[in-house]
Amino acid sequence: MEGGILRQSGKAVKGEGGSARSGGGVRARQAGGRRPNGARKPARSGLFITLEGGEGAGKSTQIHRLAKYLKERGRPVVVTREPGGSPGAEAVRHVLLSGAAELHGPEMEAILFNAARADHIDTVIRPAIAAGKAVICDRFYDSTRVYQGVEGKLDAVFVRRLEAIAVGETIPDLTLILDLDAKEGMRRAAARRNPDEAPDRFEKESVRQQELRRKAYLEIARNEPERCAVIDADGTAEAVFEEIRRAVDERLGDRLKPAARSRAGRAKPAGRGART
Ligand code: TMP
Repeated sequence: MEGGILRQSGKAVKGEGGSARSGGGVRARQAGGRRPNGARKPARSGLFITLEGGEGAGKSTQIHRLAKYLKERGRPVVVTREPGGSPGAEAVRHVLLSGAAELHGPEMEAILFNAARADHIDTVIRPAIAAGKAVICDRFYDSTRVYQGVEGKLDAVFVRRLEAIAVGETIPDLTLILDLDAKEGMRRAAARRNPDEAPDRFEKESVRQQELRRKAYLEIARNEPERCAVIDADGTAEAVFEEIRRAVDERLGDRLKPAARSRAGRAKPAGRGART
């Protein structure tokens, strides 16, 4: 399987030369975060925070609170989500959540999630960070690692290669992993769903899968403690936010004030899926 993956990955890399999306953005992504001359990454003026967790972990409520908190601290905020967040990525979201891609397996889904991600980064996330804003994103590449990678049993090399191509240097400054008991998460997800609405492709799954996701997220946090903070999501919304606030202050406190030379006020508006 790995051979096929590497071939696919090689093909994608070779083919980029002539496409409209193959400018500096894609080449920078292929470098996987390293510049050809080994120079250090340029300092970013904005902040990039992602929230992750299984179904029903309460990300939306906490994102709303976090956005308010950062705005009060004087930082312009862009709230966005994956899959989606830009017009191109929202089109792919529809394909993914309807279950239309499920039939073709987790490899296809992983490629589509990353295609959407590349567009989202190019058109919304990177410009907002460059303009000094705090970008809060509901899910990012850890979701692909967990849902397609671990749960879909994909080869880790394949997942990381796709990720490097889609993301490049746009790595979150902080990832908040909302950790919740699997059954409780499923219960909350079912309770918040409109009774007339069918569960989406990922919501219809079992407690066992939800447990697998939980473990996979905790393993990511163990492997990348500098980027990730695990938040106990089993309390009131206030208590959970208090933990989030503490993690944000501890890890990003010195960067919360907008950069002095930020051009945030003159930045172009974010893509359609993003909410400022
Ligand atoms: P949500 O809007 O409820 O978070 O739904 C998005 C669903 O998509 C969620 O069940 C997780 C899934 N997902 C993946 O499987 N892989 C990914 O890379 C992303 C971003 C989301």
